[in-house]
Amino acid sequence: MKRFIVLISLTCALLAGCKTQPAQVAHTPGSDVLVLPSPNEMLYAKVYLDQDGAPVYELFHADTPVMLPSALGFELRGTVKYQGLEYSGSEILKPDELPPYMFNSGFEVVDVTFDHFDETWEPVWGEEKSIRNHYNEMLFELRHKDDGKLMNIRFRMFDDGLGFRYEFPDGQPLVHFVIKEELTEFNCAQDNLAWWIPGDFDSQEYEYATSKLSEIPEVFPSRTNQYNSSTTLYSTGGVQTSLQMKTPEGLYVNIHEAALVDYPCMHLLAEGKNLRSFLTPDAEGWKGRLETPCVTPWRTIQVAESAVKQLESRMILNLNEPCALDDVSWIHPVKYMGVWWEMIAGAGSWDYTNAASVKLDSFDYAAAKPNGRHSANNANVRKYIDFAAANGFDALLIEGWNIGWEEWANCNKDYVFDFLTPYPDFDIDALNAYAHSKGIKLVMHHETSSSVRNYERHMEAAYSLMNKYGYDAVKSGYVGDIQPLGERHYGQWMVNHYLYAVTEAAKHHIMVNAHEAVRPTGLCRTYPNLIGNESARGTEYQAFGGTVPEHVTILPFTRLNGGPMDFTPGIFEQNLKEWCGNDSHVNATIANQLGLYVTMYSPLQMAADTPEHYAPFMDAFQFIKDVAVDWDETRYLAAEPGDLLVIARRPKQSSLSGSAKAFSAGRDTWFVGGVTDEEARTADFALDFLTPGKTYEAVIYADAPDADYEKNPQAYVITRRNVTATDSISVEMARGGGFAISLRAL
Ligand code: NOJ
Ligand code: CA
Repeated sequence: MKRFIVLISLTCALLAGCKTQPAQVAHTPGSDVLVLPSPNEMLYAKVYLDQDGAPVYELFHADTPVMLPSALGFELRGTVKYQGLEYSGSEILKPDELPPYMFNSGFEVVDVTFDHFDETWEPVWGEEKSIRNHYNEMLFELRHKDDGKLMNIRFRMFDDGLGFRYEFPDGQPLVHFVIKEELTEFNCAQDNLAWWIPGDFDSQEYEYATSKLSEIPEVFPSRTNQYNSSTTLYSTGGVQTSLQMKTPEGLYVNIHEAALVDYPCMHLLAEGKNLRSFLTPDAEGWKGRLETPCVTPWRTIQVAESAVKQLESRMILNLNEPCALDDVSWIHPVKYMGVWWEMIAGAGSWDYTNAASVKLDSFDYAAAKPNGRHSANNANVRKYIDFAAANGFDALLIEGWNIGWEEWANCNKDYVFDFLTPYPDFDIDALNAYAHSKGIKLVMHHETSSSVRNYERHMEAAYSLMNKYGYDAVKSGYVGDIQPLGERHYGQWMVNHYLYAVTEAAKHHIMVNAHEAVRPTGLCRTYPNLIGNESARGTEYQAFGGTVPEHVTILPFTRLNGGPMDFTPGIFEQNLKEWCGNDSHVNATIANQLGLYVTMYSPLQMAADTPEHYAPFMDAFQFIKDVAVDWDETRYLAAEPGDLLVIARRPKQSSLSGSAKAFSAGRDTWFVGGVTDEEARTADFALDFLTPGKTYEAVIYADAPDADYEKNPQAYVITRRNVTATDSISVEMARGGGFAISLRAL
């Protein structure tokens, strides 16, 4: 660790000079002004106390301000013990009866230390084989002048952005405390263009709005009429992270958080071009209950000179702790199908009966009249197992296998599922044996209907049942309002629950894919058995009214910034009306759906449509069979949020399985995917990522000239040609279209 003692006056020349190393460059009435540069010196932050002893930071890119002076700190409620109650001497007070305690000014600097870190680490699965974690760090240690309470702010400056977090050290007057609000500001230097979804404490399942920051309150009302079974909007200025922005000069700036643990999820409140933190409240309206020593999640501001560079950023993963699991040999990527889309689209049901009420301990399912639509029945499941096995998949998800679905949604029922008892027509013994005999693992489904206490009540037995039958992955879900009522999907209590489910699963060697959970913040680095999350508007909404084509071009900049998404691509039959009377239309061409297997990174990839819908298009389905799901190398060839993505990836040999192994094992292969928005576009790109001197067979799955996501979504052409690293490819993407290419060295 180095301590810098040089105090230099603030002149332009010296400021430029001090970007080469951390330094103090000036003095304010509150403290020295400290400058923390990125390793490549393109970014730097200034940090200081102002005349009121209030901590402030600023962020610059090549001397252009990205964040103007921005406040840091908290409004707290004193020293609070015993679940928010404090004995005042004569009476017990609730937190809101305690005097406000502003913890954002009146500080003095105790110490400042600098550090430098540079390591390369290997993720268990990911978009590349190894990741460089390289930053300069500054610890700004503060003491409140009035009462000696301590708060440190740790800043890490990477070449791709700034992360900082609050740390409350041990052995100080602050012990237990309640947060009224975190007062972190992101005071954007300009009225940036933003891709945003409405701030909501319970749902992220929105389409994106694109507007200037200052226009958010005006645009907001038109963006909130998107159905979800649990939503809590808080302000017309509310937006969620990861928030992707673009400055008028073309810098890409993204605000998010990393390592969200034991703390509420951070939303934002936009006022003009200023954004400030707005934490998710608990059932009493408080925004975090902490006990020292403790730290907050990292607040992150990624800065990139291009959209491609933003997608290359691994800052969120780097700000998370290294893998906490000793043995990761049981964690593996999964390509799967599901007895799923037919229920989502309405062609089948999760429920076994039409009973209006079922009490699990007394309802006699064996004697009940089946509704005749139950999808998770033995014959149907076997049909999917046969198809998945014949096409080299790893696994099959089955939803609606367990009793209780008659009352799962919107009942606010506590004891709704037991996660153990199959419906009478689902033979768990025989189906697992049949699946395993064909090389397929079944994926467990735990819809909790947000009755979280009930899930925790059954979790150990439910995971043990999975171990008994050899299930090694679970899809969990949190549809509806959280119970206990008043808690929110993204509050501290639920944040702790989601991680509890992941760490308990790890003890059972179970991989987790949680839907409706809080959006990821890179925790998959620490807990790589968290192989997927939904936590955004996924493909299911194509059956719930449809989703605009540009959605998939934005998600990699926003939702995927924190970790992979179980987006569930691969819908080949867009006309749901004809199939099952559903009025929605799937707004994508088949070629677009193929492109998603490359553009939407996830170690868990689904082929979401039904065997019947794939049957007429098995030549296009071949791409889904061939494509890998875990990668040694990724090249972003073209990108712009809201417009298009073109991405190339090279598989990781050691994690290939099934039909992907048959295509790539021991071979030099690449896969390229592209997607566009509602505009037709041409993707032109060089193949210079291929090994020079080798010839590859390229199989190009493209939109046909007359393809169109609304009028002709199933029109595609497949062409084959030999190419080398000196060639280029040009592909036409239809409206709502895309393309996919497999490349294999001859
Ligand atoms: C919502 C999930 O996103 C979806 O995939 C699942 O099928 C339903 N909940 C039922 O659990
Ligand atoms: Ca969902």
